[in-house]
Amino acid sequence: MSGVNEIRSTFLDYFRKNGHEIVPSSPLVPRNDPTLMFTNAGMVQFKNVFTGLESRSYSTATTAQKVVRAGGKHNDLDNVGYTARHLTFFEMLGNFSFGDYFKERAIELAWTLVTKGFDLPKDRLLVTVYSEDEEAAVLWRKIAGLSDDRIIRIPTSDNFWQMGDTGPCGPCSEIFIDQGEHVWGGPPGSPEEDGDRFLEFWNLVFMQFDQTAPGERSLLPRPSIDTGMGLERMACILQGVQSVFETDLFRTLISAVEETVGIKAEGEAAASCRVIADHLRSSAFLIADGVLPSNEGRGYVLRRIMRRAMRHMQLLGAREPLMWSLLPALVGEMGRAYPELVRAEALISETLKLEETRFRKTLERGLSLLSDATVTLKKGDMLDGETAFKLYDTYGFPLDLTQDALRARDINVDLSGFNDAMQRQKAEARANWSGSGDKATEAVWFELKEKHGATEFLGYDTEAAEGVVQAIVRDGRTIDGASAGDTVQIVVNQTPFYGESGGQMGDTGVIASDHARLLVTDTQKKGEGVFVHSAVVESGKLAVGDAVALTVDHARRARLRANHSATHLLHEALREVLGTHVAQKGSLVAPERLRFDVSHPKPMSAEELRVIEDMANEIIVQNAPVTTRLMTVDDAIAEGAMALFGEKYGDEVRVVSMGTGLHGAKANRPYSVELCGGTHVSATGEIGLVRILSESAVGSGVRRLEALTGEAARAYLAEQDERVKALATTLKAQPGDVLARVEALVEERRKLERELTEAKKKLALSGGTAGGDEGVREVAGVKYLGKVVTGVEPKDLKSLADDGKKSLGSGIVTFVGVSADGKASAVVAVTDDLTGRYSAVDLVRRASEALGGKGGGGRPDMAQAGGPDGARAGAAIEAVAGAIAG
Ligand code: SER
Repeated sequence: MSGVNEIRSTFLDYFRKNGHEIVPSSPLVPRNDPTLMFTNAGMVQFKNVFTGLESRSYSTATTAQKVVRAGGKHNDLDNVGYTARHLTFFEMLGNFSFGDYFKERAIELAWTLVTKGFDLPKDRLLVTVYSEDEEAAVLWRKIAGLSDDRIIRIPTSDNFWQMGDTGPCGPCSEIFIDQGEHVWGGPPGSPEEDGDRFLEFWNLVFMQFDQTAPGERSLLPRPSIDTGMGLERMACILQGVQSVFETDLFRTLISAVEETVGIKAEGEAAASCRVIADHLRSSAFLIADGVLPSNEGRGYVLRRIMRRAMRHMQLLGAREPLMWSLLPALVGEMGRAYPELVRAEALISETLKLEETRFRKTLERGLSLLSDATVTLKKGDMLDGETAFKLYDTYGFPLDLTQDALRARDINVDLSGFNDAMQRQKAEARANWSGSGDKATEAVWFELKEKHGATEFLGYDTEAAEGVVQAIVRDGRTIDGASAGDTVQIVVNQTPFYGESGGQMGDTGVIASDHARLLVTDTQKKGEGVFVHSAVVESGKLAVGDAVALTVDHARRARLRANHSATHLLHEALREVLGTHVAQKGSLVAPERLRFDVSHPKPMSAEELRVIEDMANEIIVQNAPVTTRLMTVDDAIAEGAMALFGEKYGDEVRVVSMGTGLHGAKANRPYSVELCGGTHVSATGEIGLVRILSESAVGSGVRRLEALTGEAARAYLAEQDERVKALATTLKAQPGDVLARVEALVEERRKLERELTEAKKKLALSGGTAGGDEGVREVAGVKYLGKVVTGVEPKDLKSLADDGKKSLGSGIVTFVGVSADGKASAVVAVTDDLTGRYSAVDLVRRASEALGGKGGGGRPDMAQAGGPDGARAGAAIEAVAGAIAG
């Protein structure tokens, strides 16, 4: 019963049987609190439930919560490895009441579990209460039967719990166990309280207040309960060991270190093993929750933890990156309780390997610099800040790693010298910086970056989060506040809004505080990592320092994700079909459509486009998970990842993979693998469908595809389908027969046109009546056929005149056609035997004059002209006759 996994389930089961809902641990990066670096207690996920802002379907709950205390208010990093109980990562078991039960029931539940469930001997237990909380003291006496000397009143903040500078808080009562006289130490409140004899293992917080600002507290609407039991501590007690590192879970991890590195966890090596075991847990869980090592914010805390562990690996004698090989031991111990660890195992493993590989490149040189610089230093001396900064800047030694390395020799680091060196470097960077574009506006972002660091982007994992307003900018200047109607740019410490890059448009949505609501119309990345939200204040007033809830327009983002993932699939399909010369030359990922430009020398055929589209859709149908890994650019490219045109990459890149290839060289291998910082669907099926709309040229050697996905593609196809159905109805055909039917109609029409032309000619020649010579007369001994025709196209007049010549044998023909709008065209034809005497060109000129036109043209045997005055067609015929007559 006393293994870590059993203790966890005993606790949760006990509270479930007592009517509590078992709620999963929330992620280590709090979604609902902008002031917290990491989730540092079980109550964090319920913060808004306590204050009444949020309601749940249950009023009591129990959790095993992942907690990291490193960086931020509760920071245990420096002590880990050197004390019996400090950990950067631990599990907190808790039970919660949201206005349901309060002090009495909380004490009763805790006491019963401790004394009956865990079977701890009553006479070794004692409790503390806040000195102003007499009620709690009375209840402990009543429920637990504890004598007064075992209920210790503490007047300090130790017995007043606060999550952070703001939020729900209240007096608390802690339960201790006396580990026996053989351990040094005194009861809480005594001068020897720092000893280990009296061990605190459960904290019951009687949540009564909401700290809204420093010094300002209001009563919570309904008094509530928040308790936290350190799982690892309970394991120590139940397993009869002094240190958390001796419990079953840690023993397994430490054995894994021993085995991997080939050492024994004894003497100095023991501390290193403890550091590694703890830091492996925090690193793995942080990575599983979406934090990746970086030089800013949370990512930097993670990097510090990882590098600290990696230095200890090196101290133990590891000659190559080995942290990652410890991971299976951890997943084996904790993967059942925390499935995210199993899901992210590959990512964690690769991230550990990558970080250790990179750090090792400079680790040895850094350590030798450190030992040279400290060779003359003795116990109590100080390492100069300049060297510490050099270690930080050039060798990637976070300050606390340097401090840790000198700790055994009792040497400190000159912190103010370190800070001076840091400031000097920043000043240089500022002096060397030259902005692009509008300098004044650009400078603002650079200054904000310097002042607050880069914005933490949470949008890979969430579309809603809280942040604190760091700056409000208008016209390139920072301002203190904005009110209804203002158009401003907002910078917050962390945001789920994606800033436009890599072709993907920025997010839109809502930013809201207690007093204001803003509509975000766009998000851009400026000044190297500052996310700038362009927004209109819809109502209220917003000020710098306000806490805000940021909510991305979910439907729009979902379309952006689908379109972005579809570009990756099309990219790969294009390469498969057209060849590997195809490279991306730009893209636009908008919510309503996608545009994708690639290098390719000629237009793509309809058949090629169809195959490309089919291939992309095949991967969509696989509904394959989309995975993201972090790698160096070189490794990623070596693995065949496609790098995007025009993107700047940092040292580490995200590599997005999706699908399994079905054809050729890609068969059974990852289908699309690309370097990409964008947001993607979690499985390809979410794209729904991709439909290529068009293919066109954008420049020499660059072709552009436009396509739709999901609902837009479906709507487009539905519209096309409607069109075909309407056609079918009109044609009185089945939709499947429409094409054949239209082809037949076109053919039939051609035939009819031909027949019609023939008929008209016949009609014209015959003068509308049967019989041959109508309209033929003799003019100056020459046979002359002159006729006004209607309904004959001007282009058909010549062949009509040819027919006329044939029927005359020898003679002259004039046809004047009059069009519907009253214009005339005339053709004069002269049989070959007469061209010596008459020129058709001269004759047609006369006709043209009569029609109000200006001459004509042709050959002596056939000429054509036109004129505006169709009413004078008869006169034109007579004018030609006159000319023949001479
Ligand atoms: N919030 C309290 C703590 O962290 C009890 O859960 O100790």
